[in-house]
Amino acid sequence: MPAPLRISPSLLSADLGHLADQVAAAAAAGADALHLDVMDGAFVPNITFGHDTLRAVRAATDLPIDVHLMVQAPERFLERFAAAGASVLTVHYEATPHAHRALAAVRDLGLRAGLALNPGTPLACAQDLVDDLDLLLVMTVDPGFGGQRFISSMLPKLRAARALLDARGSEADLEVDGGIAPPNARAVVEAGATVLVAGTSIFGSDDISTALHALRAAAQGGT
Ligand code: DX5
Ligand code: ZN
Repeated sequence: MPAPLRISPSLLSADLGHLADQVAAAAAAGADALHLDVMDGAFVPNITFGHDTLRAVRAATDLPIDVHLMVQAPERFLERFAAAGASVLTVHYEATPHAHRALAAVRDLGLRAGLALNPGTPLACAQDLVDDLDLLLVMTVDPGFGGQRFISSMLPKLRAARALLDARGSEADLEVDGGIAPPNARAVVEAGATVLVAGTSIFGSDDISTALHALRAAAQGGT
């Protein structure tokens, strides 16, 4: 039985001058989790949030916080993000020669361990790590910025990721991140995604609640 669909709004597109209010609005609108993009200016050409921002988000909500580490050598920071309130810590396959060690370290901290693959990274890179992850993130844009266009050629990769997890009996979440919006939400769910990250299509809209409901309805095949 597939896991229920979850929507994780990305705070990258939130109004940061009113962060706690934006978190509360997303929670009130029915967000299942919140997605926090941590960028270091080295792994990706952008700099965003650190531990202190995570602590502020944690203070504002009881929702799970899905922390997406777009940083080189993420193993350096796992303990601090755990202490600051992360629920899931996702590391990039491309950011460390020791992805297995990083995933194990996340689990040792008592958190759910995620592995992210850039669009250009083959799914095969995750194959030997399936037993070590609780979430597989198939990036549907090149990471670094919100508001980019969904790369539709990632759909076959997503289907293959679903087949890989199912074949191995894994109950890991299959997450998509980048350009997710009502026009493509059904396609990613049909391809096997269980967690939809969405920044611009939720926080970039005039009404967070309406946008989140529209995304969920589209993902579920509603009108
Ligand atoms: C991009 C980030 C995404 C970003 C998605 O590198 O990982 O989480 O916030 O934003 P949208 O939904 O606008 O593509
Ligand atoms: Zn992200």
